[in-house]
Amino acid sequence: MRAIVQDEYGPPHRLTLGEVPVPAPGAEEVLVRVHAAGVDYGVWHLMTGLPLVGRLGFGLRRPRNRVPGMDVAGTVEAVGPHVTAFRPGDEVYGEATGAYAQFALARPGRLARKPAGLSFTEAAAIPTSGVTALRAVGRVTAGDRVMVIGAGGGVGSFATQLAAAGGAHVTAVCSTAKADLVRSLGAQAVIDYTREPLTGTYDLIIDIAGRRPLALLRGLLAERGRLVLVGGEGGGRWFGGLGRLPAAQVISLFSRQHLEPLLSLTRAADLDTLRGHIEAGAVRPAVGRTYALADAPTAIADLAAGNAPGKLVITVDSVEPGSTGDGKDDEDGTETGTPRP
Ligand SMILES: NC(=O)c1ccc[n+]([C@@H]2O[C@H](COP(=O)([O-])OP(=O)(O)OC[C@H]3O[C@@H](n4cnc5c(N)ncnc54)[C@H](OP(=O)(O)O)[C@@H]3O)[C@@H](O)[C@H]2O)c1
Repeated sequence: MRAIVQDEYGPPHRLTLGEVPVPAPGAEEVLVRVHAAGVDYGVWHLMTGLPLVGRLGFGLRRPRNRVPGMDVAGTVEAVGPHVTAFRPGDEVYGEATGAYAQFALARPGRLARKPAGLSFTEAAAIPTSGVTALRAVGRVTAGDRVMVIGAGGGVGSFATQLAAAGGAHVTAVCSTAKADLVRSLGAQAVIDYTREPLTGTYDLIIDIAGRRPLALLRGLLAERGRLVLVGGEGGGRWFGGLGRLPAAQVISLFSRQHLEPLLSLTRAADLDTLRGHIEAGAVRPAVGRTYALADAPTAIADLAAGNAPGKLVITVDSVEPGSTGDGKDDEDGTETGTPRP
């Protein structure tokens, strides 16, 4: 099958389009025929091996998984003998290993049924960003004042919609080019951080970008407000954007304000909750651009450049299982059947 492959950490141009065997599902795994795969910062971290502390989990010298990509939408091709939640033909979305390929393996607990009415491209935009936003927003009540910093990006576009759907008054922080997008997602006020300072008082601040000092963010937070630290690129090579997290936890012990570092994992239950919001019409993925599989390196570079609106998605041509994906039939003429290496 065709896949993006990566043999060492480095910039996007080190990724190449290659041929690798179709992975075989283990007893508790699902083989997904990939129709579309999302691009998010997790992929960038795994590609670069930065911050360095992450290599303890991704692989010390080179990436443990040769094929990058996590967020996926596709059709179940085969399941291991212990998998009962899915069967071949099911349309699913969630998190897989090696999603930038024609087939990828996933754990059933990280997959869910694809929302009705969404294309595979739209569904692939959801998992990591949507689940992170769901966790960050938590329970908002009508009239809550919510600030989303980085509202025009992947996580922010979902957080803005989820908070607005909960009845909150959302102030979106973004650059000039994304003001129209965030308003269309439900933000009632927009602060263009390139032209004006952040002002106001908020019950909830979702901090996704910019790594502003905690003191500045706490100054914008109500006395019993909640600050969720989701992300922010940059920082040192060793710890990147993680530097503020220990201080936030200590401050939270002594303050009425609640400072919360977030580490989100994509779980089936959250994907089911998001499907409910999407099918109810409250949330829709904001897909800004799509790319062919071969252009995955460009997609990741565009994400890192920071000017992509909403979510970026890689679309993967469908391929007959068992074929090489080069448009030719197998030697024995088989066009369909169980995928094999
Ligand atoms: N904690 C978790 O579990 C978790 C999960 C997913 C992602 N993350 C992290 O969250 C961060 C964002 O991820 P993402 O996928 O949403 O990235 P993204 O799509 O690039 O979105 C980030 C947005 O922030 C905006 N931005 C950049 N600098 C800013 C600044 N100084 N002030 C305000 N906004 C600024 C960017 O556009 P404009 O500048 O044009 O407005 C962009 O739209 C990353 O650091 C990622 O690693 C964490």
